Amino acid sequence: MPLAPLSGQFVGVGRADTFGPGGHFLKVEGRHVALFRLDDGFHAIDNLCLHHAGPLCEGEIDGRDEVTCPWHGWSYEIRTGRLVQDPKNGVSRHDVRVVDGEVQVRVNP
Ligand code: FES
Repeated sequence: MPLAPLSGQFVGVGRADTFGPGGHFLKVEGRHVALFRLDDGFHAIDNLCLHHAGPLCEGEIDGRDEVTCPWHGWSYEIRTGRLVQDPKNGVSRHDVRVVDGEVQVRVNP
């Protein structure tokens, strides 16, 4: 089934203080999104690994803020979505902001 067109709008996903450090699964406008809380704030990328759609929100985060897919070890830069092993490829990065304590995500294609 084709995905519905994206609205291009920021969508509220919850209070910032309810998201601890690390990865969190979100569904935003029908997309599976991995929201990460790092030392410098929130970042979001597609949750589905390019290899076999492993859940990136459940991956380990290393000291360079790269997340490793829990299924077979492909790694992604959390801030860009770039695939570490093949930087020409990657998952979509989504825009995140916090407004009045609420995390909002704008899904990119
Ligand atoms: S599904 Fe992510 S590395 Fe295989």
